[in-house]
Amino acid sequence: ETGFFTYDPGFTSTGSCESKITYIDGDAGVLMHRGYPIDQLAEHSDYLEVCYLLLQGELPSAAQKKKFEGDIRNHTMVHEQIASFYRGFRRDAHPMAVMCGVVGALSAFYHDSLDIADPHQRMVASDRLIAKMPTIAAWAYKYSRGEPFIYPRNNLSYAENFLHMMFATPCEEYKVNPVLARAMERILILHADHEQNASTSTVRLAGSSGANPFACIAAGIASLWGPAHGGANEAVLQMLTQIGHKERIPEFIDRAKDKNDPFRLMGFGHRVYKNYDPRAKVMERTCHEVLDELGVRDEPLLDLAMELERIALEDPYFVDKKLYPNVDFYSGIIFRAMGIPVSMFTVLFAVARTVGWVAQWNEMVGDPSQKIGRPRQLYTGSTLRDYVPLHARG
Ligand code: SDX
Repeated sequence: ETGFFTYDPGFTSTGSCESKITYIDGDAGVLMHRGYPIDQLAEHSDYLEVCYLLLQGELPSAAQKKKFEGDIRNHTMVHEQIASFYRGFRRDAHPMAVMCGVVGALSAFYHDSLDIADPHQRMVASDRLIAKMPTIAAWAYKYSRGEPFIYPRNNLSYAENFLHMMFATPCEEYKVNPVLARAMERILILHADHEQNASTSTVRLAGSSGANPFACIAAGIASLWGPAHGGANEAVLQMLTQIGHKERIPEFIDRAKDKNDPFRLMGFGHRVYKNYDPRAKVMERTCHEVLDELGVRDEPLLDLAMELERIALEDPYFVDKKLYPNVDFYSGIIFRAMGIPVSMFTVLFAVARTVGWVAQWNEMVGDPSQKIGRPRQLYTGSTLRDYVPLHARG
């Protein structure tokens, strides 16, 4: 194939990296973190417990969980000068642009004192990133609205804190709906890690040069932003809005099958899953729970999404190519029902995926045999030729 190159992060001669964190069987539609199936974690665990599992390899004891929650809680604030950093952005800047800039800027505040060769200091940096991402994300939303930043509160859970910083104002108390907080915990778990996806591979490649974790995570955020990756949740909402009515679904199904048409069914298909993305099933169930809790019985976008899924899953093109809904297909409908604007959907994905990025970064930096990544290429350019002076070029 011309221009084809195999990605070799420099870890093994087979051109693939080894990891103990996440296992995916794309044909069977299986996703496990450290051996635990994603649907069990989504049902019974909470996000910080899953963070501990991804980072440490085991579910925490009660004491370990209490200490980890305390470590995270005590680092949810960001340096006050970071707050002024936002003011360099236009108010209408895409929040993912703000996330790339602000998270990268953390290097200027927390990196100098960091020795990434020290496992303890690597874990401290990881905890700081997990702790600060909800604050940074919620402040990007507040900045876009011209509202004052809301500080994290130590009496709230991870998801409650995020929702509180998103929607509270100094003018009145804001009570987080526990059903929405539980749904948010589950959504964060579903997005926590996913093996060597594009953004995680970006973090590994950046980190393989010895770059500091804050800069590496900023690189991961940039990769996640793309509509073929984490940007798909935002693109699904735009697609459903563009389709508008069930009668127009066949028109868009035909466009998705037309190789001359760049339109793709957003939220459908996957590089690895050739079966139903196990996260999408949990996400759909969560979508119904949230809409029920909010008393949104007739969300037209949900009806449209379910009908689109039904038609696509019966269409020979999608069946033959094993294209199923992925994690992004229903998530945007939930976020929209929660009052989260479309521009913040991928930001939420970045908040959740931070633990996967730092866990994989830690695993790589902690491996003494790891080398700097160096994607290989297959050269398909011109063969040897002599220089032609300008006057002789016609
Ligand atoms: C995420 O990698 C990860 O793990 C990512 C992720 C994570 O958690 O990190 O799971 C998150 O990024 C999920 C994917 C979100 N992206 C989208 O929903 C965007 C829409 N999906 C497509 O862009 C596409 O499915 C990709 C990019 C996700 C995968 O593209 P591939 O690698 O081309 O998929 P494929 O090889 O399985 O495609 C097989 C065929 C191709 O046609 P042919 O070349 O065989 O003729 O199916 C076609 C594709 O063109 N196809 C689609 C399609 N997805 C693939 N046709 C129409 N609509 C689609 N959505």
